[in-house]
Amino acid sequence: PAQTWAHGGVNSFLSFFKGYDYASVQRGFQIYKEVCSACHSMHLLSYRNLHDVGFTEAEVKAIAAAQEINDGPNDQGEMFTRPGLPSDRFKNPFPNKQAAAAANGGKAPPDLSLIVKARAHHEDYIYALLTGYTDAPAGVELSPGSNYNKYFPGHAIAMAQPLYADGVTFTDGTKATIEQQAHDVTTFLAWAAEPKLEERRRVGLMVMLFLVFFAGIMYAAKRRLWSEVH
Ligand code: HEM
Repeated sequence: PAQTWAHGGVNSFLSFFKGYDYASVQRGFQIYKEVCSACHSMHLLSYRNLHDVGFTEAEVKAIAAAQEINDGPNDQGEMFTRPGLPSDRFKNPFPNKQAAAAANGGKAPPDLSLIVKARAHHEDYIYALLTGYTDAPAGVELSPGSNYNKYFPGHAIAMAQPLYADGVTFTDGTKATIEQQAHDVTTFLAWAAEPKLEERRRVGLMVMLFLVFFAGIMYAAKRRLWSEVH
């Protein structure tokens, strides 16, 4: 089912004037942080990028500092951990892909940085996937560790249903239904995959306006240049 997105969709061609719903992006980050980040990395994002969606510098610092980041080697050649800094990339929940797969029944949870663009139907698919968990229809046998999802290709997905009503408590008071959370976390993932969407659209529009204006000038110049020729 196609959803309505304030930004029109990352792949929408006719959404020149549309931009992200940043309150939704912020709630979506809260869901990523509290739910998805237990399994999914987002290696293209740094904590400081959150400033662009409306978190204050102090909030970004606090979000980063709450993470324990692996670092090193230091002067003595030792690895160590330290509180995160705004310049750190989002922490990966697993040291590597093998560990990620081992912890999830053999299927590594994919990095979510570009997932909205990596799947057909973009936002609508992610929303559908997150709201698409049901009991398997009669006669369908699932292997252990598989979950039935109406919209996952093949229907048997290694990811258990991640969203539940009131699974998070939004700081802005929005009611946390499954649909609301699916919408917000998808908006967050869309922003992550295409953070320059608004700038790109703005520049595109300016280019179009300029071309119209310039066509007028060229037409006037052509008329004048050829006005003596009969
Ligand atoms: C796969 C999103 C939470 C484990 C995926 C996929 C997406 C996704 C978009 C790719 C589906 C596809 O290939 O088409 C999310 C979001 C979450 C979340 C938005 C939070 C709301 C979790 C959690 C876990 C998890 C908490 C672990 C307990 C996995 C695994 C896969 C996966 C193992 C691979 C599934 C397969 O290929 O069968 N997730 N996820 N996810 N996720 Fe999540």
